[in-house]
Amino acid sequence: MDTLLQQIELYKQEIESIKPNGPESLESYRIKFLGTKGIVKNLFAELKNVPADKKREFGQILNEFKQLAESKYESWKEATSQASITSHEKTVDLSLPGDALPLGSHHPITLVRNEIVSIFGRLGFSVAEGPEIEDDWHNFTALNLPEDHPARDMQDTFYIHQNPDWLLRTHTSSVQARVMESQKPPIRIICPGRVYRNETISARAHCFFHQTEGLYVDENVSFADLKQTLYFFVQEMFGKDVKVRFRPSYFPFTEPSAEMDINCRICGGSGCNVCKHTGWVEILGSGMVHPKMLENFKIDPNKYTGFAFGMGIERICQLKYRINDLRLYSQNDLRFLDQFISAV
Ligand code: PHE
Repeated sequence: MDTLLQQIELYKQEIESIKPNGPESLESYRIKFLGTKGIVKNLFAELKNVPADKKREFGQILNEFKQLAESKYESWKEATSQASITSHEKTVDLSLPGDALPLGSHHPITLVRNEIVSIFGRLGFSVAEGPEIEDDWHNFTALNLPEDHPARDMQDTFYIHQNPDWLLRTHTSSVQARVMESQKPPIRIICPGRVYRNETISARAHCFFHQTEGLYVDENVSFADLKQTLYFFVQEMFGKDVKVRFRPSYFPFTEPSAEMDINCRICGGSGCNVCKHTGWVEILGSGMVHPKMLENFKIDPNKYTGFAFGMGIERICQLKYRINDLRLYSQNDLRFLDQFISAV
C-alpha cells in the first residue's frame, strides 16, 4: 500500500512537470495515463489487493489522481487546438481581397432586347408577355386571319401533334391579342419574346427567332404617332443620323400597313450584301390596328384607334453588332458569346 502511495506521488509530480507541446505528445500522454492499459486503469486494478479497512482511503486518493490526470489532459487539449488555429491564421491574410470570379456575359439578343425595352419604356410602353405554345385563336383567327386566309401561308407554322388547335406562336402579335382581350384602352405595351417558324436552318433563316411587338390603342392615335414613335426608336438605337423610309405593305391585322426600312448601318448606304446593294434594310412591319381586330376584343373602333408594329430582334442585332449568321445566336460558342462581355 505504501509503495502504491509513493508511486502515485511520483506520477503526480510527473503530471505537474509536463509542459504541453503539440498534438503528438498529448496523444502519448493520453495513452500512458488514461488509455485502456494506462496508469490510471492499472492503479484501480490494484484496489482489490488493498486491505479492506484501507480501501476507502485508497479509493479516494485514486479518484483524486484520476481527476488530476484528466483535467491535465483537457486543458492541454484545449491549448493545443487553439495553438493550431493561431498557426493557421498566420498563413492566411484575411485582409487580402478575394480572387475575382470570371463574369458571364449577356447574350447579344438579351442586350438588344433590354435596350428595346428601355427605349420604349421612356415613351411609356410597358412589357407584356404571353405563352410560346399558343392556340389558333390568339395567333391567327383573332388577328383577322381566319382558317382559310391565304396570309396564313406567310408563316410556316409548327403545330402541336396532340392537339391541332395548338401551335408554336409564329409571331408575338399573339400577345397583342391576349392584352386586348384582358385590358381596356389606353393600352401601350411592347411584347418581346421567342417565336417559331418551320424554316430550314441557314445563315439567313432559323426555326426560332425573337421579336418585339408593340401596340398602342387610345383615342386619337394616328399614323403620324406611329411614324414618330418608330423614328424615335431607331434614332435612340442607331444614332441621330439614321434615315428611315416607310413602304406600303400588307398585314391582315393592320390597315393601312407599312414596312419600315433604315439606311444600312453596315455599309452606310453604299451597298453591301446585308442591304442587298440597295442601301436600305427592312427592320419592321407596322400599321394601324384593323378595326375588325378592335371589334374582336369589344373595343369600339369609332372611339379608339391604335397602331402596332413588330420587329425581329436578330435583325437589329445584326445591324448593331454586324452578326452575319443567324446560327451563331444558338450555337453557344464561347468565342462568339465572350465578345459581348464588355457590353454588359
Ligand atoms: N406580326 C408581323 C410579323 O411577324 C409583324 C407586325 C406586327 C406587322 C404588328 C404589323 C403589326 O411579320
